[in-house]
Amino acid sequence: MTTVGKLEKILLKEESRYCSYGDTAHYLRKPKIFSECDGSFLYDYSGIPYLDLQMWYSAVNLGYKNKRVNNAVRNQIDRLPQLASQYLHREKIELSAGLSRQMQKSFQAKGRIHFNVGGSQAIEDSIKIIRKTTGKTQFFAFQGSYHGRTIGASEITSSYRYRKPYGHFSNRAQFIPYPYCFRCHYGKRFDSCKYYCVAQFERLFETEYNSVLDTKTGECEFAAFYIEPIQGTGGYVIPPPDYFRKIKKILDRFKIYLVDDEIQMGFYRTGRFWGLEHFGIEPDILVFGKSLTNGMNPLSGFWAKEELVKPEVFPPGSAHSTFSSNPMGTTAGLEVMNILQDKTLANRINSSGKKFVSMVKKLQRKYREIGDVAGIGLAIRIEVCEKDGITPNRQLADEIFQAGLDGGLEYKGKKYGLVLDIGGYFKNVFTLSPSFYITDEEIGMAYKFLDQLFSRFTASKRRPLQKYN
Ligand SMILES: Cc1ncc(COP(=O)(O)O)c(C=O)c1O
Repeated sequence: MTTVGKLEKILLKEESRYCSYGDTAHYLRKPKIFSECDGSFLYDYSGIPYLDLQMWYSAVNLGYKNKRVNNAVRNQIDRLPQLASQYLHREKIELSAGLSRQMQKSFQAKGRIHFNVGGSQAIEDSIKIIRKTTGKTQFFAFQGSYHGRTIGASEITSSYRYRKPYGHFSNRAQFIPYPYCFRCHYGKRFDSCKYYCVAQFERLFETEYNSVLDTKTGECEFAAFYIEPIQGTGGYVIPPPDYFRKIKKILDRFKIYLVDDEIQMGFYRTGRFWGLEHFGIEPDILVFGKSLTNGMNPLSGFWAKEELVKPEVFPPGSAHSTFSSNPMGTTAGLEVMNILQDKTLANRINSSGKKFVSMVKKLQRKYREIGDVAGIGLAIRIEVCEKDGITPNRQLADEIFQAGLDGGLEYKGKKYGLVLDIGGYFKNVFTLSPSFYITDEEIGMAYKFLDQLFSRFTASKRRPLQKYN
């Protein structure tokens, strides 16, 4: 065995003895160790490159080891790497100003920024604000939603599996079907449904006996609706164009706040700065995280409308964490914001996204098992099905995912691996979020690797196109 092979073996043995299995490293049959990264690639100890099509669940939008972000972090290490959140530093203030100005540009809305560390914690802070303003603890959220795994975030995350071992969740949200048109909850087709799902939501407010409204006073028991503009973990589900506009009208009528979770779709993942910009409505609160720092020091936060966050209503000490607004995070965030000012970036994302989707559509014509392909910006979904093109095929998705990580793919006579991510209500959707700087050659490689993997695990030839509803 090579020295590298021996090191990997020792590390895996130590891991199985000393690391908790409670995170997601053991979703893989054989936990995977990487030792380096660069651009769109991760490298294992043998030096095999793995083309990464998910970039740390969209936390590394600007590519691994992005030079500008790395330099900003290096400079900060030498100048002011540590500072308690109780004191101010330039980067925190400039980043807050930059994000607030962006909100004004995107939604013509005035407000303030509050930082925390992880996405879930920022969600918790947003829950605090809503509770404080309204005195209410009940929320709407979507079926298929994912807002994190802290206790509060689990209340508005749809999956019962995440709550089950932890006792009763008295504030569990009321989960509303998401407009997932490929698998419409109501069995409708988009070309004829006339937004039936919106009408169903509206019916909740028809009579007090539908459980959400005191029709005598017009007061709703629910304080806010937590949304993802494009569902992330739910399988990169893209809602139809007018859905959120119609929902927002109902929310406004009953004074229900709209909280927009942009933790995964924010910072241009969808080709616009915020995912919600595609849908022509404004949020009351917007929560962000992940790629704000391009995956460097953790930093998350929320923006809230002035009326919700002004000092008189959200006074000093309302929310705090030792590491919130840490200078390594804010400096990385500030440089990411500078990079995102590049006027050519949105075009680049949208044009690479189109190339990527048409490449996967080519594969769809070849493999009956690819049921649905869609994309917005560089958020791309591939729904893996049985040969009928509709029945979810979790096993096939899993085989392909695990085999990509074995590193046995080929390109121009060299060995490669492929990093995918699986989401979706049935765990059968590849949710792809490649680097914003993915090259045409890398898109071509992605085609070759997916082709090799689908052909290894299927024996199908193309069928007549599945009707999209
Ligand atoms: C939409 C969304 N909200 C919240 C979270 C939770 O963020 P974190 O994992 O940083 O706690 C995630 C993480 O994937 C997410 O995608």
